[in-house]
Order: sequence, then C-alpha cells, then structure tokens
Amino acid sequence: MFNIILFGPPGSGKGTQSEKLIATYGLKHLSTGDLLRTEISKQTPLGLEAKSIMDRGQLVPDEVVIEMISSALDANPQANGFLFDGFPRTVAQSEALDKLLQLKNTEIGVVLALEVSEEELVHRLLNRGLTSGRSDDNNESVIKARISEYRSKTTVVADHYSQFDKVVHIKGEGTVDQIFASLCSEIDQRLS
Ligand code: AP5
Repeated sequence: MFNIILFGPPGSGKGTQSEKLIATYGLKHLSTGDLLRTEISKQTPLGLEAKSIMDRGQLVPDEVVIEMISSALDANPQANGFLFDGFPRTVAQSEALDKLLQLKNTEIGVVLALEVSEEELVHRLLNRGLTSGRSDDNNESVIKARISEYRSKTTVVADHYSQFDKVVHIKGEGTVDQIFASLCSEIDQRLS
C-alpha cells in the first residue's frame, strides 16, 4: 500500500492533480473538502455546521474531519493506497492520521507539496468562482482568509513530515500536464 498526501494552499491544484493521479496509480481519493461539501448538499447537521465555517474561509474543527477520514479509511479496506487531498491541515490532524494508518500497518509514503505564488492562487480561485458555485471562491476577502489559515495552521504540517524526510516540493505553476509529470516522477522513484 502506498499513501500520498497532496499538499498545498487553496487553489494550488490539489483537486486537479488528484484526478489524474488516482487514474494513474489506482489510489482511493480522500478529499475532506469534497466530503464536507457532500454533507452540505445533503443538509446534514454536520454539513450545516461546516458551511458557515467554510463560508468564512476558516478550518472546520479537527475532530470533525478526523472522524470523517477515519470512517472513510474503514470503508475502503481493499484500497491499494490513499491519496489525501486537503487533509491533514493541522498538526493534530497529521498526528491522528499517522495513528490511523499505523493501526492498518501502513504509513504515508510521500508528501507532495505544490508551490504557487499568492497572486496566482487568488487569480485561479476568483476565476473558478465565476462558474463553480463554491461560495468560498467568489469573494476575495474569503480567499485571502483561506490562504491566511493555510499559512498560520497548515504549513506546519509539512514541517511535521519533513522530520521523517517525506516532503518533496513541486513547482505548481505551469501546465497541468507539466506539473503532473513532476508529481509522477517523484512517485515513481519511490515505487521502484
Ligand atoms: P478544500 O475543498 O480542500 O479547498 P482548498 O484547499 O481551499 O483547495 P481548492 O479545492 O480550492 O484548491 P485545490 O488546491 O484543490 O486546487 P484545484 O485543483 O481545485 O477546502 C475547502 C474548505 O473546507 C476549507 O477552507 C475548510 O473550511 C474546509 N476543510 C477542508 N478540509 C479540511 C480539513 N482537513 N480541516 C479543516 N477544514 C477543512 O484548482 C483551483 C483552480 O485552479 C481550478 O479552477 C483549476 O482548474 C485551476 N488550476 C489547477 N491547476 C492549474 C494550473 N496548473 N494552471 C492554471 N490553473 C490551474
């Protein structure tokens, strides 16, 4: 089993690259953003609570997302490996993930960290907001709040995995295919 964290700020291309990576490597895609948006669309109590937090560009409480990931891991016992997208986002989430994977006799193989300038992130997200229907994309101050949450609470997740020498920084600007090739090269080196 080979597990990957696709890491990076809002708009860095995690979702875009995840689609291509799962198709190539047969991994199970676990995106906490997608899981939360499913809860919102079903109007569950969790979804209703999460929506107001997400609309402000803030992080949903750790215990909520950890429980979602724990259930998703249990629901996919046959997976070849997992691609985590948008999770973990705090050190508490990283530590919880490490423990959950340990219980399944596995671990994170690599953290692929996409690097994109703030100017490009804002440009991409405002552009997507024109058509996506995502309420956290169509307001520049909410986008800035998401980036600020990332800088203050999430960048430390890379430090957590750096101590185990698992982080690779990838230039996240260029064409989707160029970035995908860089990601595949790093994964292939570790699989061979
Ligand atoms: P989440 O859904 O995870 O969103 P995000 O991290 O803000 O990331 P995005 O989906 O906006 O961007 P992305 O990096 O996936 O880029 P994408 O490929 O879409 O989280 C949303 C919210 O949920 C959070 O704010 C938080 O409230 C909550 N949440 C989620 N997980 C949580 C957790 N673990 N803990 C607590 N709270 C959590 O691309 C973006 C755009 O750029 C697209 O339009 C795409 O077409 C375009 N694009 C992609 N690649 C390129 C390229 N190479 N060149 C030009 N454009 C490109």
